[in-house]
Amino acid sequence: MEGPMTRRIQPRIAPSEITPEAVFRDRRRVLAALGAAALGGAALPGLGQSPTPAGGAASRLAPPKYARSERWSTKETPTSLEDVTSYNNFYEFGTDKADPKANAQKFRARPWSVEVAGEAEVRGRFTLEDILRPHALEERVYRFRCVEAWSMVVPWLGFPLGDLLQRFKPTSRARYVEFTTLLDPGQMPGQRSPVLDWPYAEGLRMDEAMHPLALMVVGVYGQWLPNQNGAPLRLVVPWKYGFKSIKSIVRIRFTEREPRTSWNLSAPYEYGFYANVNPAVDHPRWSQAKERRLGTGFFATRTDTLPFNGYAADVAGLYRGMDLRRYF
Ligand code: MTE
Repeated sequence: MEGPMTRRIQPRIAPSEITPEAVFRDRRRVLAALGAAALGGAALPGLGQSPTPAGGAASRLAPPKYARSERWSTKETPTSLEDVTSYNNFYEFGTDKADPKANAQKFRARPWSVEVAGEAEVRGRFTLEDILRPHALEERVYRFRCVEAWSMVVPWLGFPLGDLLQRFKPTSRARYVEFTTLLDPGQMPGQRSPVLDWPYAEGLRMDEAMHPLALMVVGVYGQWLPNQNGAPLRLVVPWKYGFKSIKSIVRIRFTEREPRTSWNLSAPYEYGFYANVNPAVDHPRWSQAKERRLGTGFFATRTDTLPFNGYAADVAGLYRGMDLRRYF
């Protein structure tokens, strides 16, 4: 049941304290109504408002149009589509690698909306279509390194996170940005166990978020994201451990102070806020010096992990003068 990231933990909440699903759903209906009101109000720069189209699985949508970005793509051989979509971490659907694919098929990733809050001039709730409309999609082949010491090479489809964040006009007080995943134990069976303090949350410093490598991802291998990979909208931050790449985002909040993040809250000595890939700083329970590339066979030689996952030339400057052992 448990991957290396989880330890055997005592449930911190008694099952009796968990909101019964009916109450939870009712609360969601009220929240959804409030959200609908906000949708009518705020206009996102560069767009008009669009109605939310009828829902539908990613497979029923027209395929995404995109152009390949050579500038930001590695020449390494991509991991197979099969491995990318069947060996997943998405604890909302279970802690085994095969659970997300098995349990996320009925997840409703459309219609979808994202709430924007905090230190920004433009706030409110926006439909997925409003979020996506002005952005040209790029295919970028990135290395992806999980904190559990396995890695992949993935052809993501997305657009620079910074281009999206700028549309909300962050104020001068915005020093960080927090991302939150949907909370819906009805659809996400993993949220019925206290493996993490739900909903899953992650964050970046603003300069990290504005870096051109930070990608808002909507697809993989030329298709819209499968549910198990974080449909319909997820982050990919290729120089950081995979747990920073939060899936199925419903909220973006600009903050003055460093946001609390799920894995850091769960095990602060094991998972830092920064989580930059660093072969010189071991996880307390295993080495980070090497990695196992998926698809190269279980007995394949482990290859060396590179500082910042091989993106040091692009991103090391963000951390100049910082003690990377302390801010791990
Ligand atoms: N996002 C949410 N909401 N829940 C999760 O459990 N797991 C993280 C990250 N994003 C996770 C998440 C971890 S540990 C990794 S390695 C990547 O998603 C895995 O992404 P993939 O399944 O698309 O390879």
